Amino acid sequence: MNSNVVLGCIWGDEGKAKIVDVLAGSADIIVRFQGGSNAGHTVKSDSQTLALHLIPSGILYPNKLCLLGRGTVIDPFELLSEMESLKLKGISFKDRFFIDSGAGIVLPIHKILDSKKEESGNQTKIGTTKKGIGPCYSDIISRVGIRFSDLFDEIKLKEKLLNLYQFHELEAFGIDNLMSQLEAAREQLSGYICQASYMLDRMYSDEKTILFEGAQGSLLDIYFGSYPFVTSSHTIAGGVSAGSGFPPNKIDNIVGVYKSYFTRVGAGPFPTELNDATGDLIRKNGNEYGTTTGRPRRCGWFDAVLAKYTAMINGINDIALTLLDVLSGMETLKICTGYELNGEVISEVPINIDDLDYVVPQYIELPGWEEDITEAKSYEELPGNAQNYIRKIEELLNTDVTIISVGPDRGQTIFRSEKFSA
Ligand code: GDP
Ligand code: IMO
Ligand code: MG
Repeated sequence: MNSNVVLGCIWGDEGKAKIVDVLAGSADIIVRFQGGSNAGHTVKSDSQTLALHLIPSGILYPNKLCLLGRGTVIDPFELLSEMESLKLKGISFKDRFFIDSGAGIVLPIHKILDSKKEESGNQTKIGTTKKGIGPCYSDIISRVGIRFSDLFDEIKLKEKLLNLYQFHELEAFGIDNLMSQLEAAREQLSGYICQASYMLDRMYSDEKTILFEGAQGSLLDIYFGSYPFVTSSHTIAGGVSAGSGFPPNKIDNIVGVYKSYFTRVGAGPFPTELNDATGDLIRKNGNEYGTTTGRPRRCGWFDAVLAKYTAMINGINDIALTLLDVLSGMETLKICTGYELNGEVISEVPINIDDLDYVVPQYIELPGWEEDITEAKSYEELPGNAQNYIRKIEELLNTDVTIISVGPDRGQTIFRSEKFSA
């Protein structure tokens, strides 16, 4: 298998980074294609835990290449500080880290605009990470954004910055200071800039293995998520090509990462949310607090209506089911298989996504299991009720669960397909 995609299929934080880190062992390059430092990706290896925001989750392997694609939006100062802290841990970037020349630059102004919008009493609060993601993508779509290649022509960069400030009807105070900071960042980052489309094309032709790492999750996709409570990028499989320049017909396999229960951080509809002791227990057992913002994550039952939808829009070949260990000790587990809306039971996402606020989930109940499963090394070692739970998800999503994660460590992973190995 030469190109593999790993995507979150809920509202983010599905454990994508752990799955990417595990699969990165047999990849040559790991590529981020969308999002920015709104992502919080936790990888754990040899008793070292890292929280990554911009750097791909393959960085722990010294000999793997890591690339930030054109569809990502990057605050160069945050990137440099993330690189610095990884360098202190002995991680090297030389000749193995790349940034596409067309990747967007998140500027201080974007963070200010993000916070202002969130704090304005008159506008819908999304509960963003305040990392400037939405405003930066808006500028790119409005064709006034700044990209990495712009850093190399100082005269044009200044013109573009002035144009951007004018676009936002802002006085260009401090622009010279910003210019010198950007120039300093360019000095440090210029060696990493590349043309990713050519690079990926060459690697694929040379039969190298490419691993695409999604950020956020399908239900946060700008088009197909729970709009407007979404992020501002294409988080679904279709975004891989748009955000990297790698053509869709060369994508060989798509792994959808699903948590064994659902979580969401930030505002927006969540039909199976548990605002009770069971939700609190899941939060406690799963340590469900945001990696980027530290906010408590909202927790709820597995929603097969939404899960089937995201499997469909992504064309998922494999399911990686994560955090299964968190459900140990729960007497009964519920899976939502339909919604009641206006007196009717539906099994699809409502045509008006706003109706997700009003649907009443229809549940099936499955018996839970008592046993600690964090040491399980195979599907057969899992308790019968855990196997039943997995089989039910496979049946509802009509897709095989080929990777099962029973803990945050690399070793706590069960593979059920020869396609994958640690
Ligand atoms: P991502 O954004 O999808 O990469 O996920 P995050 O890193 O934000 O959140 C997932 C959290 O769950 C991290 O703290 C991981 O270390 C942890 N994790 C991943 N897989 C498992 C698992 O199977 N079991 C448990 N208990 N924790 C896991
Ligand atoms: P990873 O990659 C979970 C959510 C925010 C907010 C909405 C918009 O770790 O899974 P933004 O700052 O992107 O404009 O915020 O999206 N959000 C995430 N939720 N995991 C993430 O990333 C997220 N990135 C953004 O909480 O609701
Ligand atoms: Mg996360």
